[in-house]
Amino acid sequence: MIIAVDGPAASGKGTIARALAKHYRLPHLDTGLLYRAVAENVRRMELDPTIEADAVAASNFPDDMLDDAALRSDDAGQRASIVSEHPLVRAALLQRQRKFANQPGGAVLDGRDIGTVIAPDADAKLFVKATPQIRARRRHGELRERGSTISLDKVLADIRARDLRDTGRNAAPLVMAADAGILDTSFLSIEAAVIRAIELVERQL
Ligand code: C5P
Repeated sequence: MIIAVDGPAASGKGTIARALAKHYRLPHLDTGLLYRAVAENVRRMELDPTIEADAVAASNFPDDMLDDAALRSDDAGQRASIVSEHPLVRAALLQRQRKFANQPGGAVLDGRDIGTVIAPDADAKLFVKATPQIRARRRHGELRERGSTISLDKVLADIRARDLRDTGRNAAPLVMAADAGILDTSFLSIEAAVIRAIELVERQL
């Protein structure tokens, strides 16, 4: 069984994907981490993220980079959305994601283009959304907990910039798959959102 979970930054898709993976006992891949790792590798190699060949050269990152706490920062997310605009970077990461999705028994993947590009034949698809203000408040809280002093306004501006880049790019833009179940988490607790997510998955099986 393949479950595809897509949505914008800080919509709750990661939390929901992890909960679904636990519920259905499936492995889970946060595909945003792959783009974050490319971006971090670009930085370490002192390359230019806006140049496609530079970003491609950095897509061969070591596996252990995925565990690096630096990938979780707001800045890494912004830079990830810059490298993710390059079609050749997306192509370089495609097989890895497809292989994960098609492993025996299935998997849960979350990202921006899982239901549209990586696993268009997924057994269940969710599109998780929430208002930019609510997403900013959540992300701000998380970053604060990790010791960041970033302001709520800056987080909101970053979220809006990332939304624009993710929805406006030519290569695999963030769009809802026509057959995805919509889950608006704006006014739901995590527990309520997970229950609703399971209902939406069950309805598609
Ligand atoms: O989900 P996360 O915030 O970690 O993703 C970081 C960035 O990576 C996103 O803003 C998006 O530009 C890119 N991304 C993508 N396709 C995916 C997952 C993430 O383009 N499947």
